[in-house]
Amino acid sequence: MKALVYHGPGKKMWEERPKPTLKQDTDAVVKMHKTTICGTDLHIMKGDVPEVIDGRILGHEGIGVIDEVGRGVKNFRKGDRVLISCISACGNCEFCKKGMYSHCESGGWILGHTIDGTQAEYVRIPLADTSLYHIPEGMNEDAFVMLSDIFPTAFECGVLNGQVKPGDTVGIVGAGPIGLAALLTAKFYSPSRIIMIDVDDGRLEKARQLGATDIIKSKEGNIVDKVMDLTGGRGVDVAIEAVGIPATFDICQSIIAPGGHIANIGVFGTSVDLHMEKLWAHNITLTTRLVDTVTTPMLLKSVQAGTLHPEQLVTHHFPLSDIMKAYDTFSHAKEEKALKVVLENK
Ligand SMILES: NC(=O)c1ccc[n+]([C@@H]2O[C@H](COP(=O)([O-])OP(=O)(O)OC[C@H]3O[C@@H](n4cnc5c(N)ncnc54)[C@H](O)[C@@H]3O)[C@@H](O)[C@H]2O)c1
Ligand SMILES: [Zn+2]
Ligand SMILES: [Zn+2]
Repeated sequence: MKALVYHGPGKKMWEERPKPTLKQDTDAVVKMHKTTICGTDLHIMKGDVPEVIDGRILGHEGIGVIDEVGRGVKNFRKGDRVLISCISACGNCEFCKKGMYSHCESGGWILGHTIDGTQAEYVRIPLADTSLYHIPEGMNEDAFVMLSDIFPTAFECGVLNGQVKPGDTVGIVGAGPIGLAALLTAKFYSPSRIIMIDVDDGRLEKARQLGATDIIKSKEGNIVDKVMDLTGGRGVDVAIEAVGIPATFDICQSIIAPGGHIANIGVFGTSVDLHMEKLWAHNITLTTRLVDTVTTPMLLKSVQAGTLHPEQLVTHHFPLSDIMKAYDTFSHAKEEKALKVVLENK
């Protein structure tokens, strides 16, 4: 089979690899139908994730059809159409029982990280019963590809941790795929205002189309003053950080209203200044989280019911064999006006 293989920082190849086989009774082999590229894959390509070794097949998102299952797999059989979660979970360990699949003692984020991933014609999925989800036929498939990672991430780390409530004012810093998924899932709770902040006009325009009530271009004037003007000097009830740099975390600390929630989603490579001298008396809750994908069944139902349209974030389609070109497009997101690129294994 063909697969996208990492060969150290800056080096990748679309090359021939052996088709994966079952290693454990609880494994399944899935024939990939659609996959996508994540910002995290770009971090891997830069060498920011050193656990990823030369020779690793990348990718942790996608949908496909079951090709083979181990004897211990109860919920799936050959021919079933499945959504692959970016987090593998055993369902039995102490962390899984607390709903923290991200810290599963035998799973967690392993696909395209410590084991071979989904940017290939076939993938081996360990702990198949608790890491795959059935998907219905005849619906927009791109929508389900978005449920492997970005929608559970935005919903769990941003919207649920931020405790968005009806009538709230929500500020989302970063209008990338994750920030925009936070915008779409925040709307479940009918906040009165959603203010999106980014540096990219194209992404802010998209945010407006998806329902942002206000957009603010970062770097043009004082963002904090603008948010304060929009909120009568009070600030936002929920500030969602969806970038991952000290400057944007700082914006969240500066725009949060008393009693508010700062929900961090961004992956940070450096420390930040925590302004306790300002925050201490303001009853602020600060949360962090690695996506657990425990809300995937809930999001699947919303897609099936037509109340959530994750496919709105898909901007480009490529055949899987053009994945090198797709990486190029995705890594020039601003110029290419790219959000999510979908790769199809025909
Ligand atoms: N917590 C988790 O489990 C988890 C899971 C997946 C991804 N993430 C993280 O979520 C973050 C967002 O992911 P994404 O895929 O949307 O990334 P992205 O890079 O596509 O989007 C980030 C956005 O931030 C904007 N931005 C950059 N600098 C800015 C600034 N100074 N002010 C305002 N906006 C600015 C960019 O223009 C871009 O639109 C990343 O840090 C990613 O690593 C976290
Ligand atoms: Zn990802
Ligand atoms: Zn577990």
